[in-house]
Amino acid sequence: MKKIVILTGAGISAESGLGTFRDEGGLWAQHRIEDVATPEGYARNPQLVVDFYNMRRAEAATAQPNAAHQAIAKLQADPRFDVMLVTQNVDGLHEAGGSDPVIHMHGALNSALCAACDHRWAAPLEMHVGQACPSCNQPAARPDIVWFGEMPYFMDEIYDALAAADHFVAIGTSGEVYPAAGFVQIANQSGAQTLELNLEPSSGVSAFDDARFGPATQEVPAWVDALLAT
Ligand code: APR
Repeated sequence: MKKIVILTGAGISAESGLGTFRDEGGLWAQHRIEDVATPEGYARNPQLVVDFYNMRRAEAATAQPNAAHQAIAKLQADPRFDVMLVTQNVDGLHEAGGSDPVIHMHGALNSALCAACDHRWAAPLEMHVGQACPSCNQPAARPDIVWFGEMPYFMDEIYDALAAADHFVAIGTSGEVYPAAGFVQIANQSGAQTLELNLEPSSGVSAFDDARFGPATQEVPAWVDALLAT
């Protein structure tokens, strides 16, 4: 059984209408990372941060999965392949496109986290500052998002899968943020074939054995169909 690790980024959800971070007019052109995506920003102004994720949760709630999400789900369903799908995205479009399981290494908009007891539960569409945790009752609910400076989730499982991978494919990510941007190096060291599918070359493209450029809704179904035809 061929082992494939797929890493996706904001680019795979771009054609579903969700903004990316570093493209022209992207989220980091509209908001300061230090204000809305760091623990310090949250401590300084929790309302600004909660509003930012409420806005993104509302946008994600009306977005639809696209052909790229659906193609990955088709690959995951094929018994000839052992696929680990890791996403940096916090939207639920992989799940909506039929993928299961989905590893959200940067957290998820539809999850809430208690900063006091680490309890997680399904986030309401609108979260509020000082919302009580349903488990410990402390007013410590926060978005279950991994902010800059915090440790991404599921890293042990991801590193184990990269060490055993036959293929590593990065889709719609700029390769700007670690540890995700370093996954291709680990995959190369474990002898995996590495492929980048992106709208344009990412900053890490030279580390990949192969790269194809174009919209994810074209490149991902083409890659999956070719793989399933083998
Ligand atoms: N099809 C394929 N790729 C696309 C498309 C598209 N339609 N549109 C944009 N892209 C590509 C861009 O060329 C870019 O390389 O998607 C990438 C998006 O890069 P970023 O905006 O940096 O998003 P991402 O790589 O997911 O960011 C990683 O940074 O801010 C943090 O936590 C945040 O998870 C995020 C992480």
